[in-house]
Amino acid sequence: MKCVDDFRLRLGQHELVPIVIGGMGVDISTVELALEAARLGGIGHISDAMVPTVIDRHFKTRFVKDKLKLYKANVPNPDKSLVKFNLGELEEATRMHVRRAMDAKRGDGMVFINCMEKLTMNAPRETLKVRLSAALDAGIDGVTLAAGLHLGSFGLIEDHPRFRDAKLGIIVSSLRALQLFLRKNGRTGRLPDYVVVEGPLAGGHLGFGIEDWMKHDLAGIVAEIQAWLKSEQLDIPLIPAGGIFTGSDATAFLEKGAGAVQVATRFTVTRECGLPDPVKQEYFKADEDDIEVNGISPTGYPMRMIKSSPGIGAGTHPNCESFGYLLDANGRCSYIDAYNREVAAHPETRKVKVYDKTCLCTHMRDFDIWTCGHYTYRLKDTSTRGADGDYALLTAEHVFRDYQFSKDGRVALPSDPVT
Ligand SMILES: Cc1cc2nc3c(=O)[nH]c(=O)nc-3n(C[C@H](O)[C@H](O)[C@H](O)COP(=O)(O)O)c2cc1C
Repeated sequence: MKCVDDFRLRLGQHELVPIVIGGMGVDISTVELALEAARLGGIGHISDAMVPTVIDRHFKTRFVKDKLKLYKANVPNPDKSLVKFNLGELEEATRMHVRRAMDAKRGDGMVFINCMEKLTMNAPRETLKVRLSAALDAGIDGVTLAAGLHLGSFGLIEDHPRFRDAKLGIIVSSLRALQLFLRKNGRTGRLPDYVVVEGPLAGGHLGFGIEDWMKHDLAGIVAEIQAWLKSEQLDIPLIPAGGIFTGSDATAFLEKGAGAVQVATRFTVTRECGLPDPVKQEYFKADEDDIEVNGISPTGYPMRMIKSSPGIGAGTHPNCESFGYLLDANGRCSYIDAYNREVAAHPETRKVKVYDKTCLCTHMRDFDIWTCGHYTYRLKDTSTRGADGDYALLTAEHVFRDYQFSKDGRVALPSDPVT
């Protein structure tokens, strides 16, 4: 019987353990987590979500405070169109973030950055170009284009000296999305180095409709894309993601020709993961009916999360002058509209509740939206519980090696050997 370690992912000159830890914003997939994946010979992702905010936390810089100071007078104004990011500061913060990872990298694996197009930042093209270019400047091994179709993203960096040497990939949830991406980016004469195929059981935002996500299945989408690539004689490694919970689940995809697998949920309860420890316990304790896919993300994409996330219904005043990562090209965000509607409907209330949308920037920054994969309810089977009722946190190395070596659908507990 085979295990993941019997396979390797080849990306150019690199031969890797075919395990990719997916990007988890905002700083849930930390530099420390990505570095562990790289040290162990696989691929780890840092996230490009809200980097100036994250950098302030790590380096005691003042990117957020300075932005708020500049736009403070606009806080009561529902029109956020003048709240812009300073592109020079965005570049500096991205470089600091990526360098922190690349300077510390050890081992034969790689560190990629997950770059979400839906972070439109009130200037979609300009901010995306700066973020992509700065990550390449700072030496990132690869960029995974996420949360969006990225129809023009290769074009934004085609003049960058590392455009052909860095690994570039795209996350899709359908063959159609991949075909569109290839058609629109084809003009740059460059194919993606890998394609992550994300199914409906993944964490974070989903690339399916809120009503029909449950009708899709990862293996079916992967098989369809695989057959099409073959018919087009395109040799691009496919990396399935979403609901791959054991080494055996991963091996089944590799045996059918996948290049690697991308996994995330099992790493949310590791020491290296950025979630606060009490939140990690919420992930461990969640049962299947504690998890939902809802429409509260202002991005318009359905999102899976634990129902008791404090950010649901919080009614936070929009913080776009400090953050504003989801403002569209016209400075709008659907949370602002929802918030103002509730304020107008309840003029006597000091603090309104908003249930249909959430201030995602604020609550992801504060780890108050507990986004998670479908199989989060199985995390309790991956650890042991102490007398105080808390589960023992795992190390990223333990979970990585469990994926790499386990067979027979087994999951190694913290005390079990994993090689
Ligand atoms: C807590 C969490 C946050 C996530 N955030 C992002 C993100 O910011 N960008 C993204 O492209 N995918 C995100 N994902 C999706 C993962 O990168 C990954 O593709 C997927 O969750 C894999 O499925 P699994 O969690 O069942 O292993 C997130 C997943 C989780 C669990």
